[in-house]
Amino acid sequence: MADLKIYRASTTAPVNIAVIKYWGKRDPALNLPTNSSLSVTLSQSDLRTHTTASCSPAFDHPDTLLLNNAPQSLSTPRSLACLRSLRALRSGLEDADPSLPKLSTLPLRLASANNFPTAAGLASSAAGFAALVRAIADLYALRQSPTELSLIARQGSGSACRSLLGGYVAWDHGTRADGLDSRARLVAPKAHWPDMRALILVVSAAKKGVSSTAGMQTTVQTSSLFQTRAKEVVPKRMAEMEHAILSKDFETFAKVTMRESNSFHATCLDTDPPIFYLNDVSRAAIKAVEETNDKAGRTIAAYTFDAGPNAVIYYQKADEDAVLKTFLPILRQKEGWGETDTKIDDPGPASPQVVEALEAGVSRVILTSVGEGPISVQEHLIDDEGKPVIT
Ligand code: DP6
Repeated sequence: MADLKIYRASTTAPVNIAVIKYWGKRDPALNLPTNSSLSVTLSQSDLRTHTTASCSPAFDHPDTLLLNNAPQSLSTPRSLACLRSLRALRSGLEDADPSLPKLSTLPLRLASANNFPTAAGLASSAAGFAALVRAIADLYALRQSPTELSLIARQGSGSACRSLLGGYVAWDHGTRADGLDSRARLVAPKAHWPDMRALILVVSAAKKGVSSTAGMQTTVQTSSLFQTRAKEVVPKRMAEMEHAILSKDFETFAKVTMRESNSFHATCLDTDPPIFYLNDVSRAAIKAVEETNDKAGRTIAAYTFDAGPNAVIYYQKADEDAVLKTFLPILRQKEGWGETDTKIDDPGPASPQVVEALEAGVSRVILTSVGEGPISVQEHLIDDEGKPVIT
């Protein structure tokens, strides 16, 4: 009888939020960046993609992917590049050991689910491609390290390469034309600085803005600020940031994070036509952080924004009450707030205009912390007959 076995492997992968931003490609085909970047991996209890990779001689071609139960295309150049690289590595193992099943030739059936709203602009492509690559690598029993696999995830989405590792992760831009030195590197594991917290303010955006991929291409072509940023500003800040993380110097971490976010958004504004990712609610969040730091008399909180209006505010556990106090009167009623065990009840230092803007514009709050890299799990989103499990 023919072998109709269904092979499966499942993983969860985290979201990461950059404190030194990736913005600009030196090679769009290989997805190579103009500058290095650095991010904090966030806890998967709050934000994660769960992916099951399966293959079987019983499956039909072509490869398929379901995301939150809806079919997605796997025929984009980015997805095809990831699948091709993973199959090539598996095929190498099969050539070396003919007793191995020829999984590299079988159709893949993939199923993914996010534990957060996919359209909320929360770096879902980073977690998504990291989970896809990790799950297929596990299915194929590949022996490559997370850093080696990050070369593959990078081709899916640049920021995804950093989600292959936990803690504090750099993506070195590399100089080789083939991109083999453009990969993720562990700066420090979560255990080195476990007290890092992140408060995410999900801002209700009326419409989706310019995508990162399209936006950064226009910036490279038109912004003169961008050149200085890539050549001078970022290399200096990468060194400062790595040092701040290794010495757990929150003050420097925070100052570099905020200036970095502002520098990135300045290059967006310097793009022709200009790209506006921040809105009035984002600016109110910046003000709230400034007021919190002023009140504390030191820098206890740092904001950062990606390609959208959502604010991510980093702070340390020891300063949780002082930071959350600012947001408490604003956010108590918002979805997600209930998950904190903080006992503060007196109002914080935010001014009435700031409170009003945040109250009107923030739709959801996520309180989370630094977290681990991808985790292999036994819960499969494809059952043992190859059918998707509805999530
Ligand atoms: C602003 O990784 O989404 O979040 O490589 O084109 O998929 P592609 O871009 P993507 O860009 C992320 C940009 C950013 C900054 C960052 O995460 O470093």
